[in-house]
Amino acid sequence: VIIPVLLAGGVGSRLWPVSRELFPKQCINLTRPDRSLVQQTVERAQKAKLSADPILVCNDEHRFLIAQQLADLGVRSDIILEPEGRNTAPAIALAAFQAIERDPEATLVVLPADHVIENIDAFTEAMDKAIAGAAEDKLVTFGVKPSYPETGYGYIEAEQIGSVSPVKAFREKPDLETAKRYVAAGNYYWNSGMFVFKARVYLDELKQRQPAIYKAVEQAMANKYADLDFVRVDAEAFAQSPSDSIDYAIMEHTDRALVVPYDGDWNDIGAWSALYDLSEKDADDNVLQGDVMSLDSTGNLVRAEHRLVATVGVQDLAIIETDDAVVVIPRERAQDVKHIVNRIKEQG
Ligand code: GDD
Ligand code: MG
Repeated sequence: VIIPVLLAGGVGSRLWPVSRELFPKQCINLTRPDRSLVQQTVERAQKAKLSADPILVCNDEHRFLIAQQLADLGVRSDIILEPEGRNTAPAIALAAFQAIERDPEATLVVLPADHVIENIDAFTEAMDKAIAGAAEDKLVTFGVKPSYPETGYGYIEAEQIGSVSPVKAFREKPDLETAKRYVAAGNYYWNSGMFVFKARVYLDELKQRQPAIYKAVEQAMANKYADLDFVRVDAEAFAQSPSDSIDYAIMEHTDRALVVPYDGDWNDIGAWSALYDLSEKDADDNVLQGDVMSLDSTGNLVRAEHRLVATVGVQDLAIIETDDAVVVIPRERAQDVKHIVNRIKEQG
């Protein structure tokens, strides 16, 4: 059986003030008025014929929101609750133990619940290749052709470019100099953040390379219990797990990784500028969401959730209006929203 695993643990602080601790990025209708990113991810898996009930891993705080969003789609899912986030290596391990109960040979299709992907055909084709690779006990990644030296991504060095290939080396979030070298070299991909492998193979790697994570999660799942429709784990045991991402904990060390080239569209909407970049623009190069009036204004992203927002003669801004906060920022400085969030946290 092939099980979609949705990682829905992030917060998305750079998408403040829409993304909040209690209403995180993956639950927001960002690119479509009627579907959140989590819902789009579930539907994408269904369209790619990954039809087993998904396993979703999220923070305890978001359980009702997530459960409601899945129920709205009529989807049944195992929802595993993390008492506190320990990053993706333990989160995927929770899903792997859960999957093995359904089928010892289960294959996991690990999908970040905050990606925007519109081209289903490219996604489905890459998934089919990855599932074939996972059947050979490989850990399969998806390689995106890099277009600039992004330091926020992982890099995959491939033995050959353009077809399914063994991974020579995996390097998570290199510094800028290194990233430039990788992009220039031509045999590196960006890591998309999606993975396909058998649950058993992932757990073997984890046991061998990160025994502390393995032990903590094994124990947490040994004492799991049902609460309503949720799966709760032993909080004390889970808290013993080191916090680490799959990229650092496993992918940088494993010698059985494969990369499937991925040339579909793909966006991890990190900041408001990314939402602008991937949205359709009007004749004035604006992206206007909600009740917006725009006069002599160009290149703006304006999102109005509760009031009419009007602009006159302004360029290249992101203006985000919600019922209790408004942010106005040059689009190219959109990353800096996180400083506001930090300041709010400091002030309590
Ligand atoms: N359940 C759960 N628990 N989910 C988590 C946790 C956690 O503790 N931490 C992160 N996630 C989810 C996030 O919500 C996101 O959907 C996904 O796991 C990846 O986490 P990010 O924190 O967004 O990772 P990243 O963007 O820095 O890096 C990863 O993605 C890049 C592509 O977007 C890496 O895989 C990179 O190598 C990759 O290039
Ligand atoms: Mg990310």
